Amino acid sequence: MTTTTPLDRDRIAQLTQREAEALDQRTQASKELYERARGSLSGGVTSSYQSRAPWPIYLERGKGPRVWDVDGHELYDFHNGFGSMVQGHAHPAIGRAVSTRYDSGTHFAAPTEDAVVVGEELSRRFHLPKWRYTNSGSESTMDAIRIARGLTGREDILKIFGSYHGHHDAVMVSIGVEYDRIGPREAPFSLAYGGGIPGSTVELTHAVHFNEAEAMEARIVALDEEGKKPACVIMEAAMMNLGVVLPEPGYLEAVREITARHGVVLIFDEVKTGICIAAGGAVEKWGVQPDMVTLAKALGGGLPTGAIGMTEEIAAVVEDGTVYQVGTYNGNPLGMAAARANLLEVMTPEAYEHLDRLNDRILAGCNEVIAEYELPGYTVGVGSKGCVTFSPVKVTDYATFKENQDADLSELAWLFNLNRDIFMTPGREEEWTLSVTHTEETVDSFVEVFRELAKELRA
Ligand SMILES: Cc1ncc(COP(=O)(O)O)c(C=O)c1O
Repeated sequence: MTTTTPLDRDRIAQLTQREAEALDQRTQASKELYERARGSLSGGVTSSYQSRAPWPIYLERGKGPRVWDVDGHELYDFHNGFGSMVQGHAHPAIGRAVSTRYDSGTHFAAPTEDAVVVGEELSRRFHLPKWRYTNSGSESTMDAIRIARGLTGREDILKIFGSYHGHHDAVMVSIGVEYDRIGPREAPFSLAYGGGIPGSTVELTHAVHFNEAEAMEARIVALDEEGKKPACVIMEAAMMNLGVVLPEPGYLEAVREITARHGVVLIFDEVKTGICIAAGGAVEKWGVQPDMVTLAKALGGGLPTGAIGMTEEIAAVVEDGTVYQVGTYNGNPLGMAAARANLLEVMTPEAYEHLDRLNDRILAGCNEVIAEYELPGYTVGVGSKGCVTFSPVKVTDYATFKENQDADLSELAWLFNLNRDIFMTPGREEEWTLSVTHTEETVDSFVEVFRELAKELRA
C-alpha cells in the first residue's frame, strides 16, 4: 500500500450531508413514486435490499452501459443488477433469443433443447458433467445443500462467516453481524440473520473465517467429534459481499484437499463470480475444482435463471430419486433461450478480454487517485468485478472487514457517485460489475468522479 494520510472525519460528515441533500433534490420523482409505492408494496420496494432512506431510487429503463431513473437522469451503470447484467442492458442478441422463443411459447414445464445446449456449455466451462436449473441464486444454494445432505446423510453444514448465499433459512446465518458479536476466532457464532429463522436450523449451520484453511480443518474435526460432521462446505472462492476479497495463494487448494480428505462436499457458490470473472468463473480463474457449483444472476442475461453443477456421483442421488430437485419454472424456455444466447453469443472469449482490459484500466485509474491523495484504501478486482476498499489495512475476511472498513466513506462515495451520474451498488459491502457494453469512456468517468471525491476530501 502507498503512503496514507488519515481523513478528516468532520469533512466526511459535512460532505455526506451536502451530497444527501443534493440527492434528495434531484430525485423528487423517485420520492413521489415512493409515496405511491408504499401503498401497495411493503416498504415501497420489491426486495428489502432495494430499500433506502429516505426513499429508493426508482429506475425506468436501461440500454447498454446506461440506466435512466424516473427523474430522467442518465447514469452509467456499475451496479448492473447486483452483477446480473454483465451483458449490459437490452443486449440485442438476448433480445432476439427471447423474442423468438416468446413466439414459440414460453413455458411448458417440460425440457427444451436450449436447456441441453446450456448444460453442455456449462459442463465445458465448469468441468462438471451434470446440471439442473433453478430460478435464482437462493434456489441454487438451497437445492445444492439439500443434495449434499442427501448424498452424505448428514445435516450440519459449514459456511464462511459473513458470506451471503441467498435468503433461505440454512444460509441466513452468520452474516450482517456487528464486529463485537462475531464470537471466538476458531469457532465464530451461528446467528440468525433477521427474524423468522428457526433456531433448530441455525444450529445446523456453522461458520469459519475466510482464508484460513487450517481453521476450517480444525472445525471439521471438532464438529465430527461432536457427531456433527458437515455435509458440505459452501463458499465463494472470492468473497463478493465485502467489496471483493480474493483468496490468498494456496487457500483454495488447501480447502479442496481438506474437504476431499474428510469426505465433505465442496460447493463453490458462483452466483456472483460464475459468468462474470471468467468463462468458467472461479473454477477457471483459480484452477480448483469443487464438487458442485451454484450459478444464477448473470447466467440468464436479465431473466431469472439459476443452475447447479455436479459430479456424476453427486448427480446420482438426484437421478435415483433420493433427493428431489424440482420446480415448475426450472429450465423455463425463455430463461434457457436467454442463457444460451448469453453464453454462446455474448459472453465470448473476446468479451472476457474486454472486461479484463477495462477492469485493469479502472483499477489503475483508482490506484492513481488513491496514491495522489494518499487515501487510506486500495483497489481489488477480478474479471468484471472490483472495488475500492476504504481500509488502511488489507481485508482478508469478515472480521478484518468489519474492524477496518470505513463505512462512512463508503456511504459518501455512493451518494457522490449517484449525484454525478454513476449508478453504483448501495451499501458498504458491494462492488462494481462492468458490462461488455462498458467502454474506456465509461470507466474513465468513474475514475474522474472518484478523483473529484478525493479532491473534496482533501479540500
Ligand atoms: C454469492 C451469492 N449466492 C447467492 C445469492 C442469492 O441469489 P438470489 O438473490 O438470486 O436469490 C447471492 C445474491 O446476492 C449471492 O451473492
